[in-house]
Amino acid sequence: MHDASVLADPSIVPDPYPFYARLAEKGPVHWSEKLNAWAIVTHADCVNVLRDPALKAQRMGAVLSAKFPSRSLPPSNIYHRFTNNVMMYTDDPVHDSLRRSTTAGFTQAAHQHYSNVIEQIARNLVATIPNGKSAIDAVELTAKLPVQAAVHAFGLPEEDLDFVVPRVNVIMTYWSGPQDQPVALDDLLDNLTDLHTYALELVEGKRGKVLPDTVIARLAGSLDVSKSEASLDQTIHQLVLLLIALFAPTTPGSLSSGVLSFATNPDQIERFLSDPACADNVANEVVRYNASNQFTWRLAATPVQIDGVRVEEGQLVVPFLGAANRDARVFDEPNRFDLGRRNSAQHLSFGGGAHSCLGRQIASLEVSWFFTAFLQRFPKVRLAGEPVWNSNLEFRSLRSLPVSLN
Ligand code: HEM
Repeated sequence: MHDASVLADPSIVPDPYPFYARLAEKGPVHWSEKLNAWAIVTHADCVNVLRDPALKAQRMGAVLSAKFPSRSLPPSNIYHRFTNNVMMYTDDPVHDSLRRSTTAGFTQAAHQHYSNVIEQIARNLVATIPNGKSAIDAVELTAKLPVQAAVHAFGLPEEDLDFVVPRVNVIMTYWSGPQDQPVALDDLLDNLTDLHTYALELVEGKRGKVLPDTVIARLAGSLDVSKSEASLDQTIHQLVLLLIALFAPTTPGSLSSGVLSFATNPDQIERFLSDPACADNVANEVVRYNASNQFTWRLAATPVQIDGVRVEEGQLVVPFLGAANRDARVFDEPNRFDLGRRNSAQHLSFGGGAHSCLGRQIASLEVSWFFTAFLQRFPKVRLAGEPVWNSNLEFRSLRSLPVSLN
């Protein structure tokens, strides 16, 4: 065992991979004093952790105690009601029934429709860059795509963006990682309550207009109002979870880190444009190379052994998805951005097992269509200044990315 507290140090965010590799050389499982958790840094162990039923997704009570040790909240508080009623933080059988309740929004036919919508959004977005423009901040450009997708593919009314987005930003600041806690608990709870009130009003038709054929329209259409109040309550909680996922830094983080990958590996732009198999692999390789959710959390419900290390009941376990994606036992030359890689799809950027990302197909469509539109128009994109990363490792994303276009 080795103290892996370096993993909680914001200075490693711009390039955490050498730190992961050094830890992996010493062993696969490390105690981190600062994370107050076991850090897991190999692909095989991360896969096992994500699939082990003894390691629970229902962890947000422990996370609350770790972040606000002096406060406890009654079970009726919005924090507990929310986290106990959404798929992300529950375990089977509750998780399974919550996940199945969203099926109508994520069918194959629905994804075909979202694909058409997202292709158009991506093309329109890239078309907004004026002819002759020689340089842009790619973060500003890529940030707009998930917002457009939230409106036109997910169905969030455009007129409600100003209400929803700032509230998700506050919640994500709390949700994300071991950094010092800049959000007061009461602010978090107020914003969570606002989003629940909003979601209920949206379902009741008292807010903006939801576009037809979108995720929210399909979910609302499949809602059986004759069912118990509990099911409506859970629907509202899950809608809030979707709102948070929509405006989390994960999709914009993947798009902008992808621009960085291409801008610093121009040979891959050539391959993207000339080889259909490489183009098809773009979403997998972009998110493998830089996971925008570098790690997630589980709680040990019983004592468990992970690769020979005993984890006690009640301890937190943190699979490092970003480290797994660079594990040389799975990926040849893992630090090379390579669209021709045959097993990019083995990345863990969308998690794995029962909690594998519900939005992965839509997020992948956003990545694929964005690079199709962007690289066809700007095949000479290059890095034109120092990339600046936000200080958060858990949700790792760029703050600024200057690139030249011609
Ligand atoms: C590139 C963008 C995205 C990344 C990297 C990402 C990453 C992840 C990861 C790693 C998990 C698993 C967390 C865990 O096991 O603890 C997850 C779950 C989830 N994601 Fe995403 N996500 C992205 C986009 C989205 C979008 C756009 C949505 C909107 C629908 C979404 C909705 C969800 C939901 C609802 C879950 C929970 C699934 C479950 O517990 O069954 N994600 N995501």
